[in-house]
Amino acid sequence: MPGSSRLPVSLRDTFRAHKSSARGQLLVLNLDVLRNIIFVLFLFRWIRKAFYRLKGRGISGSIVDIYNSARRTLYGIFLRLPGVRTKVKAQIAESLLKLERRLVPSGPGVERTLTLPQEGWSEDQVKAALEKLAEMEHTRWEDGRVSGAVYHGGDELLRLQTEAFGKFTVSNPIHPDVFPGVRKMEAEIVAMVLALFNAPEGAVGVTTSGGTESILMACLSARQKAYNERGVTEPEMILPETAHTAFRKAGEYFKIKIHLVACKAPHYKVHLPSASRLVNPNTILLVGSAPNFPHGIIDDISGLSRLALRKNLPLHVDCCLGSFLVPLLAKAGFESEPFDFRLKGVTSISCDTHKYGFAPKGNSTVLYRSDDLRKYQYFVSADWSGGVYASPSIAGSRPGALIAGCWASLVKQGESGYVEACHKIVGATKKIENAIREDPALATDLKVVGRPLVSVVAFLSNSLDIYDIADGMSDKGWHLNALQNPPAIHVAVTLPIVAAVDRLVADLVDVVEDVREKERRRVVEGRGRKGAAKGDAAALYGVAGSLPNKSVVVDLARGFLDTLYKA
Ligand SMILES: *Cc1c(COP(=O)(O)O)cnc(C)c1O
Ligand SMILES: *[C@@H]1O[C@H](CO)[C@@H](O)[C@H](O)[C@H]1NC(C)=O
Ligand SMILES: *[C@@H]1O[C@H](CO)[C@@H](O)[C@H](O)[C@H]1NC(C)=O
Repeated sequence: MPGSSRLPVSLRDTFRAHKSSARGQLLVLNLDVLRNIIFVLFLFRWIRKAFYRLKGRGISGSIVDIYNSARRTLYGIFLRLPGVRTKVKAQIAESLLKLERRLVPSGPGVERTLTLPQEGWSEDQVKAALEKLAEMEHTRWEDGRVSGAVYHGGDELLRLQTEAFGKFTVSNPIHPDVFPGVRKMEAEIVAMVLALFNAPEGAVGVTTSGGTESILMACLSARQKAYNERGVTEPEMILPETAHTAFRKAGEYFKIKIHLVACKAPHYKVHLPSASRLVNPNTILLVGSAPNFPHGIIDDISGLSRLALRKNLPLHVDCCLGSFLVPLLAKAGFESEPFDFRLKGVTSISCDTHKYGFAPKGNSTVLYRSDDLRKYQYFVSADWSGGVYASPSIAGSRPGALIAGCWASLVKQGESGYVEACHKIVGATKKIENAIREDPALATDLKVVGRPLVSVVAFLSNSLDIYDIADGMSDKGWHLNALQNPPAIHVAVTLPIVAAVDRLVADLVDVVEDVREKERRRVVEGRGRKGAAKGDAAALYGVAGSLPNKSVVVDLARGFLDTLYKA
């Protein structure tokens, strides 16, 4: 007999009520537990983040980070104060107007083509117009006045490239059945570059539109690999602070957090212990440069390789600039350092055929130790209504003409051609370096950054404003590169510069003497630093660059990009 039926009604109700309140309590308890679990998870996540941050940057580093970020925020607030904001805006507008006057020709004499001509021009008309465009007043790269920028291999090679272009103008490697020759050339280019970098059996690569795309692809494949194989959803990568800015672009495009590692004097190479401390479970990629753009210094790639092996991480070596010089240093009789696939930890390398490979602009390669990484950079769309679609990198259609131009350059130069170019270019760089170190007219005020082994020599000054020197060189018709953190200038030697080295050194001596004299007068007359009018580099890097919050510089740079599209 069920006992409950004999219970008095009131008791039964109480029991029922009790039971439901117990259920209620259980629910509350469950919610509580859930809340606690979420809280603990949150706390755990936060502590873990804080732990890796502290481990990565150390206590003093973390304090410096917080201090800098506070300064940036406060300065940002200052910039937004009503009076300040209008003044800053006016100044930015003025600088941009000046820039526009310099870059965009104007006035009654300037012809512009802003709509399609109603009737097409005659061939002669087009040719004449092109001739005029090519002859517009410019910094004379032809006379070796421009650092970097124009990496061409002589007029003979240029003519051959143009011929190669002409033969393949309509070709597009996206259709290998229509253009089998282009496919073959592309594959052979990759094979030749792989061999140059001592790639092991099974190594692979792709061609891209330039160093930036090669670097983007290397970062993307490392990110996808980490996501697919390790479940990393908040990827991070570790860069020397001197690594090319394309890595920061990759960080922005692909949502990869960037950690910068200091490259301190006197070697200006990536500081390995700092890099090692920054490794955590979210790390997807280590990076080194051979050499880097700012100072032309080759990072300690052997050390990075050991670190990569120890932590089981991919290591990308940026040889975009080193391209066809670094691999041939030893053969050209210069000192070298290990940097390529012979180091077991190196998993990918970017090499620009359009720099010291002398290929037409728009050409680079990215190489991988194995297919294991390359497969993660491919894009495949299996169910598109336009058909099954696969492409190796960012672009869809690509110009086969550039591939033909690149292939023609590589086979025309051959190893001996590149060794000879290396001999000339690195030889000229050493000439500039030695002049700065040894010529008393330069050595008293200038200092070479680190020990460059390739084609770039950077220098700074502890006694003079280096940006005044940059501006003085501009006034003499040179286009050198101004650097920051620390303030410096560099020359990236190219074949056109080789012939102009003595002129360059002589002009540098004159300019340094000038700036020294100005400085002396300034001290004697007791004028403030602001007394003399500043040139472009001094204004941008000396004044705007020293601000804690760079939003003014960012606005200027955006304005510069806008100016480029003004007809
Ligand atoms: C030039 C350069 C790149 C990338 O160059 P692109 O301009 O995109 O071809 C990357 N790394 C270094 C060190 C470079 O000098
Ligand atoms: C820098 O200043 C700008 C403009 O005032 C502001 O929008 C930005 O947030 C500031 N940056 C930081 C990191 O605070
Ligand atoms: C050259 O550039 C084109 C255009 O971006 C690209 O499609 C091709 O893969 C590049 N080839 C080489 C060899 O760098």
